Parts: sequence; structure tokens; C-alpha cells
Amino acid sequence: MSGLLTTENLSLKIGHRLLLDNINLQLKPGDVVALIGPNGAGKSTLLRTLTGFQPPSSGHVALNGKNLANWPSEALSRQRAVMRQQSTMAFSWSVEEVIAMGRAPWPSESTDNVVSQVMLLTGCDALKGRDFCQLSGGEQQRVQLARALVQLWHDDIPRGWLFLDEPTSALDLYHQQHLLRLLKRLAAMGELSVCVVLHDLNLAALWADSIVLLHQGRVVANGTPDQVLEEHTLQRWYQADLRVFRHPEHPVPQVGLRQ
Ligand SMILES: Nc1ncnc2c1ncn2[C@@H]1O[C@H](COP(=O)(O)OP(=O)(O)O)[C@@H](O)[C@H]1O
Ligand SMILES: [Mg+2]
Repeated sequence: MSGLLTTENLSLKIGHRLLLDNINLQLKPGDVVALIGPNGAGKSTLLRTLTGFQPPSSGHVALNGKNLANWPSEALSRQRAVMRQQSTMAFSWSVEEVIAMGRAPWPSESTDNVVSQVMLLTGCDALKGRDFCQLSGGEQQRVQLARALVQLWHDDIPRGWLFLDEPTSALDLYHQQHLLRLLKRLAAMGELSVCVVLHDLNLAALWADSIVLLHQGRVVANGTPDQVLEEHTLQRWYQADLRVFRHPEHPVPQVGLRQ
């Protein structure tokens, strides 16, 4: 089971700017947690800090009760994987080579089997043999998801914490739904926890177990989709003219802009 991920009085100051302001979170294992908030709220910065790539200036992040700063890097790579917002490759790599890079923390384990299994799951089998650099933005996102999943693959299923920064931003409707259904299904197996930055609040409402709303580096709302995706809360923090209504088929809120 992936462990509990907590932050305690987490702050990050760069120059004179306070990018994260006293963040206290407890992210439950097995959940899909969505990070939302307006542009520049600090979502990507928080993700970098939660994954250990950006040390905080005060406070700390702990995984399984142990400060991230004290985790040996290879052990941490087996426990959490990150799909970033943008990724560039300096050289030409095939899709399968890029995905296989995710196996680096598992040098003594088989790779081919895991890579082909995850390529099927993520729909990357259709991209086999293609040059990663020549793929569309959405196709590259699918490959990056596969790379992150093979990194967490162990004893037949993905285990640990998967972090994704706007993984659906370049995906069409079919692939948005496919990705979120897949994440939910993998999390439901009980060993994978997911923390995902989402711009689309309607996707967050449908698939997240809990939602954290950030604004100017602070957590301003945190709870179930119904608690966070509340009309006044969203109007206040997004400064947008919007309405919240019920989904026609599921017991979740949906957000619509007014004309
Ligand atoms: N290394 C940095 N130095 C200074 N400011 C930064 C740095 N990284 C991000 N920021 C600023 O921090 C704020 C939050 O950025 P980011 O986390 O990327 O926001 P989000 O992902 O919510 O859109 C932005 O105003 C951004 O310009
Ligand atoms: Mg961002």
C-alpha cells in the first residue's frame, strides 16, 4: 500500500515571493486527489515540492512518516513517479525507449513485459516505433503517463504515489475520459494513490475523491468535490461568472460558465 503523504507548515519562498504559504495537507493512500486553482496559484510548485524536486524553505513533506529529504533517491523513485507539464527530449527516442526509461529504478527486474503491458493499458501500443519528438502534444502526454506508470510497476500492478501535472491539457475528450477512468481503476486496486493537477473542474468533480483548491500559494478549500466545487467558493477564488449544477447522471457537481 502506498503510504500517507503529509505536509506540515510547508512554505516556499523564492527571492521575495512566497510561492507556498504554510500548507498543511494529509493525502490519503488509495485516493485520487485533484489540485485545482487559478493560473499561478502554485499548483505546479506544490507538486514539485510534494515530489521532492523542490525543497521547501520551511516545514516539510513526509511520506510514510519519513521526511522526503531523508529518503534515498532510488528508494523514493520506486515509491513515487511524476508526469510533468512539459517534457522535452534532447535526442530522438522511440516511444518504447521513452517508456522503458521509467524502469531505471528497477535495474534487476524485467522490463519488456511491464512496458508492453502498460503500453496496452495507456493506448500507446498504437504509437509503437514512432519517434517521441514527432508525436502530437496529446500523444506525448500518453507516452509520459506510460513512463510514469512503468516506474511504479511492481509485482504486477502499479504501487505508490503517481503525480501528474495537467495530464489532460492536450487530450481530446476520448483520451481525457480514458486517462481518468484508467487512473481511477488503478487506484481502486488499492496500491496506487494519485495526485493530479487538473484545470477542468468537471473532470475533477467526476473522478477525484478529494479536491484541494489553491490560491496565491495557500490552500483555500479542501474536501470532497461537493464541498470544494461550491458556487460561491469558485466565484470568489477564480473571479469568474459561473454556475454550479448537478451532473445529469452522477451525484457530483458540474461547473458552467455564464455567457
Ligand atoms: N523558480 C521560481 N522563481 C520565482 N517565481 C516562480 C518560480 N516558479 C514559479 N514561480 C511563480 O510562482 C507562481 C506559481 O507558479 P506555478 O506553481 O507554476 O502556478 P500554477 O501551476 O498554479 O499555474 C507563479 O506566479 C510563478 O510565476
Ligand atoms: Mg502549473
